[in-house]
Amino acid sequence: MTESVTTTATAGTGTGRPFLELKDLQVHFPTDDGLVKAVNGLSFTLERGKTLGIVGESGSGKSVSSLAIMGLQKGTQAQVSGEIWLDGAELVSMSVPEIRRLRGQQVAMIFQDPLSAMHPFYKIGDQLVEAYLVHNNAPKSVAKKRAIELLDRVGIPSPSKRFDDYPHQFSGGMRQRAMIAMALMCDPQLLIADEPTTALDVTVQAQILDLMMDLQKEFNSAIVIITHDLGVVAQMAQDVVVMYGGRVVESGPVRDIFYRPEMPYTWGLLGSIPRVNRGGDHRLKSIRGTPPSLINLPNGCPFQPRCDYQQYVEGHSCVAEVPELLQIGTGGHRVRCHIESEQRSRLFAEQIKPNL
Ligand SMILES: Nc1ncnc2c1ncn2[C@@H]1O[C@H](COP(=O)(O)OP(=O)(O)OP(=O)(O)O)[C@@H](O)[C@H]1O
Ligand SMILES: [Mg+2]
Repeated sequence: MTESVTTTATAGTGTGRPFLELKDLQVHFPTDDGLVKAVNGLSFTLERGKTLGIVGESGSGKSVSSLAIMGLQKGTQAQVSGEIWLDGAELVSMSVPEIRRLRGQQVAMIFQDPLSAMHPFYKIGDQLVEAYLVHNNAPKSVAKKRAIELLDRVGIPSPSKRFDDYPHQFSGGMRQRAMIAMALMCDPQLLIADEPTTALDVTVQAQILDLMMDLQKEFNSAIVIITHDLGVVAQMAQDVVVMYGGRVVESGPVRDIFYRPEMPYTWGLLGSIPRVNRGGDHRLKSIRGTPPSLINLPNGCPFQPRCDYQQYVEGHSCVAEVPELLQIGTGGHRVRCHIESEQRSRLFAEQIKPNL
């Protein structure tokens, strides 16, 4: 089954392809318990200068997908198939040395936990310098100058002094900034940010998101931001992919996902956003039940066991068939659900929206 999300801009590259294009990406892990089907046909496109948000509950395949784009599962047990096109080059079939050259230079990643990307025993500055020298044949002094400039740019005070600090001497927010600086050392054209601010308090979170948007303007980079936080998506992204059980269940421009969502799972996600102004008995609801087993994926809609709206579908489609990801209208909004589109719109307007 082919599914695709198209960003609003279609400037394209010299090859006529979008800057980043995932086509039917699958990532499966053989384990003692069986094959874990973590990603089952993920497709989307992203242009330079644009941001795509990927949202979904824990275990929906967000990080596994981003590691695949970085080529970090190569040489492991993971079975990766499908196509990942970046600026005209296909990454799934690329060799390890080739993808290593790309990583850090053309593509960089910001991880949720900066300590996982930084070595605890090396000075922050030296790690930034190293990130530059791996890809650039330049004197160390040039790399050091750039590292200090970037530390300054991400808001580290007295950067030439802090250059010699070890990761544990930085606060959590500063480490996150330093990791962003490290990711930017080689001006990557694609930045993948996996929960970049989840561990941080809201003030620092807002500063870091602003910083990423400033840097994006400056470098015209494409950003994939992975988050549990729909507020972050609203602020940063133009397009959204909602993942469930390793599949896209709804995708499209931010305004469609927030104002005209049609998938009951997306309704659940929207209903679980904390809001300061939610008064009275408008309580925060979590989605009942648990995500599907990725070893024994359901035959029908992956969300069926948790869906409260199956009575709107005649027959047994919800349990028997995986719904296709179908386009609604012409704006790139796609939904995977057996309920008829008009009925979904009505349900959203009458039952969901008044409670959001
Ligand atoms: N190496 C592996 N071997 C087996 N299963 C794995 C492996 N890596 C990931 N998985 C499984 O793949 C599924 C998707 O994981 P992933 O880390 O992508 O989730 P996620 O959407 O990023 O969740 P979170 O929001 O918690 O970060 C999970 O069920 C996870 O246990
Ligand atoms: Mg994750």
